[in-house]
Amino acid sequence: MSEDIKKVIIPVAGLGTRFLPLSRAVPKDFFPLVDKPVIQYILEEVKKSGIKEVIFVVSPGQKNIQNYFKKSPELEKLLVKRKRDNALKELKDLEEMFAGITFSYAVQKEPLGDGHALLQAAKQTNGEPVAVSFGDDVVYAEEPAIAQLINVFKTCNAPVLALKQLPREKVPAYGVVAVEKIANNLYKIKKIIEKPEPS
Ligand code: UTP
Repeated sequence: MSEDIKKVIIPVAGLGTRFLPLSRAVPKDFFPLVDKPVIQYILEEVKKSGIKEVIFVVSPGQKNIQNYFKKSPELEKLLVKRKRDNALKELKDLEEMFAGITFSYAVQKEPLGDGHALLQAAKQTNGEPVAVSFGDDVVYAEEPAIAQLINVFKTCNAPVLALKQLPREKVPAYGVVAVEKIANNLYKIKKIIEKPEPS
């Protein structure tokens, strides 16, 4: 029987070249999607999947995530004074939503790719199996994607990836796999190529 998974690594230290020049000023994980930043959807999925510890991989000096979750007493005082109850409630709701989850950070000194980013967090995992969620990947699903992956992991006790079908012209912008079907919605990965040359 495999262990349950309680930790997730979320790398957010990439260059975001596909969204330049915007990503120079706003990191991809903070792009707004309707009324929330992308990272909040990801953290909601993490929470619904029963994860208790989040390890972010950040670039040197990257503070936006800490700032997003940091309590801001001065701002709260001002909002009380101005009777901005709705805004205060938004801040309280965010705090309550992630109350039972601990956040820690690993620094990636140079953006050498997402695999390298994960290795920077390895020390903090104590050799336990962990989930990985990319800071720019929102999955809309009734059962949270991480919970689905954890369930598959418990049955096969091997690394499990979520796959997505793409039109051929988009393949060079993604990591792609060669697979063998083993059950409904379950494939054995035979080969992975990161952002292959167009052919
Ligand atoms: P991507 O593969 O989308 O790379 O990263 P990127 O650098 O952000 O974007 P492009 O390809 O240049 O447009 C997937 C996730 O891994 C993180 C990113 O921040 C993103 O959340 N990442 C990527 C790192 O933390 N470090 C890296 O060196 C690369």
